[in-house]
Amino acid sequence: MSKKLTIGILGFGFMGQTHAETIKKLDYAQLAAVCDVNEAQLKYAPQGVSTYLIAEELLADTSIDTVIIAVPNQLHLEMVTKAAEAKKDIICEKPLAMNAAEVEQMLEIVEKEQVRFTVHHQRRWDHDYRVAKEVYDQKLIGEMYTIKSSLYGFNGNMHDWHIYPEFGGGMLYDWGVHLIDQILWMVSSPLKTVYANVRNVINEQVDDYFNIQLYFENGVNAQIELGTYFLNSSENWFERHWFIGGNQGSAKIDGFNPKGEITRTSALLSNVPGQITMTHAGPTRSFGPAPEGRILKEELPEVSVNHQMFFDNYYQYVQGKAELVVQPEQIFDLMKVLDAIRISARYHQSVNLDIDYSSN
Ligand SMILES: NC(=O)c1ccc[n+]([C@@H]2O[C@H](COP(=O)([O-])OP(=O)(O)OC[C@H]3O[C@@H](n4cnc5c(N)ncnc54)[C@H](O)[C@@H]3O)[C@@H](O)[C@H]2O)c1
Repeated sequence: MSKKLTIGILGFGFMGQTHAETIKKLDYAQLAAVCDVNEAQLKYAPQGVSTYLIAEELLADTSIDTVIIAVPNQLHLEMVTKAAEAKKDIICEKPLAMNAAEVEQMLEIVEKEQVRFTVHHQRRWDHDYRVAKEVYDQKLIGEMYTIKSSLYGFNGNMHDWHIYPEFGGGMLYDWGVHLIDQILWMVSSPLKTVYANVRNVINEQVDDYFNIQLYFENGVNAQIELGTYFLNSSENWFERHWFIGGNQGSAKIDGFNPKGEITRTSALLSNVPGQITMTHAGPTRSFGPAPEGRILKEELPEVSVNHQMFFDNYYQYVQGKAELVVQPEQIFDLMKVLDAIRISARYHQSVNLDIDYSSN
């Protein structure tokens, strides 16, 4: 077998430890060291792994070829710069940076130092997302014109550095980047216009609700809605939903382990003979039931994915056997979209762009 990735993790909190657990399962990677400024975090380091309190010390470890950056968001630029200068390949957590200008600096430094660079957008391998993408890619409901992607939290739970702007807190940075990245990678047509409503519902300083409209050149309109404060007595803490409309049907996809169905017409609606339906409110020419036999229910397509595939792809790329799926230039575009969303929300106006993931 080819040389294993020898990995160091910068920041050993929630996500750093999640990465350590994942690496245990990869036969092509080994964890060599972890670093955290908070010494208490280092007691969670797996046995036999070196521990450091200072990033520069981990970066000086010559056994390490790949660094995973999992510190709070405002430190990503500093850590990417230091890791690149230490000639380490870099996998940085999302959001890659605080804004597009920072990503531009990152791209310059990784280019200068000639190191590999990607971003942990593992939600490109979410099960529900891949089902939605399959519906889209295979045109299972014809030409799509609307996509709604939503995530609702039920208890207002945001805490720690996530509630402070200076650390890169707020839901646009936390979940927004995942949800927008999913749509940009799926629709794969130039994004022309953004309109966004971004709110602080209960948090004083950071956003905890957003409703974003993305208009693409191919006619698709995507709406992404997230709130952390849709109080609900349900046992779930959150709900995930997709609704996709095409000219031959619609798809409903609910939950991260998706359930739902495709509803299709057996013929285009333009071929359905007009009829007036009597309702208790009187005759309707628009919302009546479809004629017998014209509506078909189908199962959602089956897909098999998991988050480890992010690392599998990265390793294949290192081996020269695959294209990198999460291209840093795409994430530069993603951060431009995030910047535009903030401008749109601040001035209550749409912002025109020309962003095309498929050109990267
Ligand atoms: N991809 C995902 O699904 C996902 C999920 C959660 C978090 N994240 C991202 O991972 C990153 C970390 O988030 P988290 O939830 O693990 O936060 P966390 O607070 O649990 O962990 C961050 C750790 O970094 C340490 N740290 C701070 N400054 C440091 C420094 N200068 N050097 C070394 N260590 C330092 C902190 O002490 C802390 O232990 C964030 O960028 C976050 O957005 C990604």
